[in-house]
Amino acid sequence: MIGFRAALAATTMLGGLSVASATDLEVTHWWTSGGEAAAVAVFADAFNKTGHNWVDGAIAGGGNARPIIISRISGGDPMGATQLNTGRDAEELVKAGLMTDLTEIAERDGWADFIRPAKLLDSCRYEGRIYCVPVNIHSFQWMWLNRGVFEDNGLEIPKNWNEFVAAAPALREKGVIPLAVGGEAWQINGMAGVFQVALGGVELFRKINVDRDLEAAAGPQMTQVFEAIGTARGMVDDGFVGRAWNDAANMVITGKAGAQIMGDWAQGEFSVAGQKAGEDYDCLPGLGVYPVLDTGGDAFYFPKPADDNPEVVAAQLEMASLLVSKEVQVDFNLKKGSLPIRGDIDLSAANDCMQKGIKILENPDNILPGGEQSWSSDTTGQMEDLWVEFFNDPDMPVEEAQARYVEIIENAD
Ligand code: GAL
Repeated sequence: MIGFRAALAATTMLGGLSVASATDLEVTHWWTSGGEAAAVAVFADAFNKTGHNWVDGAIAGGGNARPIIISRISGGDPMGATQLNTGRDAEELVKAGLMTDLTEIAERDGWADFIRPAKLLDSCRYEGRIYCVPVNIHSFQWMWLNRGVFEDNGLEIPKNWNEFVAAAPALREKGVIPLAVGGEAWQINGMAGVFQVALGGVELFRKINVDRDLEAAAGPQMTQVFEAIGTARGMVDDGFVGRAWNDAANMVITGKAGAQIMGDWAQGEFSVAGQKAGEDYDCLPGLGVYPVLDTGGDAFYFPKPADDNPEVVAAQLEMASLLVSKEVQVDFNLKKGSLPIRGDIDLSAANDCMQKGIKILENPDNILPGGEQSWSSDTTGQMEDLWVEFFNDPDMPVEEAQARYVEIIENAD
């Protein structure tokens, strides 16, 4: 703790301006698409302005990056800072004491007073201390539609999933792929969560993802979710297997496809493509059926330096404080397509879709627990494998898939 106190004093003494020796921090993350790169540059620029040095360690794809990040930290080769999902990604590393304690900065800056919903910061707590800083709110509960594809073909722009399903055959006839999907496991798993809410309502989502209610998981509403994934399977092109989410987003941006069900990070792609919400594209939170949001997202962790160097810890604390500052939060989230973790900032520059999201967030009843905050990485992995197997195999009976789903929940840790 002495090292920590020296670091905190160093930060406080310098009043957040590191006039003393500049410190390099290697920062790992998986933000490599156009929109993500534009957003992470906001963090890097802000940190470099303090006089320290952001050494970018981008690793493409969450599925690749996460195990690399975790094994480096547990293997004694820690980076200076890393992005992971808000939730249980780093649970074992925090328990093993491998993460820098951020509690003093969190209390000094009053994180608990402005970070909302409170469960984002709660996901960073362990035994009364704070070990990560949430930086955004991402929700998978969105559908993105290319307005021109419908208008140019004399079709009404769908206002919900059912209207979209009804319009799909007409899109196909016009040579437009109705639904752009990237076939990676996490994408199909995310889409299943969106259907749970859109078809089964908030109640079904909570029963399964919070109460782990096996009756609900085995019930008729969840059967509808499996059937909807089957319907979605019939709307894609053959090239979906292994497709990256941002390539699927690009199909909607360029009009090759009519829509995509994807988290609001997709909006960053529309933004870098110069497209405007409400003009070039539309967004349907909760597929236009149940306008709710899950509050998944990203948090930054700061692995303890192998040599306990207090200058590194000081720079880590400075970065943690910077990432939730008002100005950085606005600039970063506008580029990332996510929502800020604080409600006390001016978001007049936010576009139609972000405004829709902020409105939904105002009512706590519209906020769902992000799946990754409910399940361990192992359980999430089993669910992802089941969903991608079911999506790829039109001959897999719904009954068989749903029975395996119930079993995963029954054995979830
Ligand atoms: C999520 C992450 C988002 C975005 C997305 C696609 O896990 O929270 O920030 O990067 O992956 O890569």
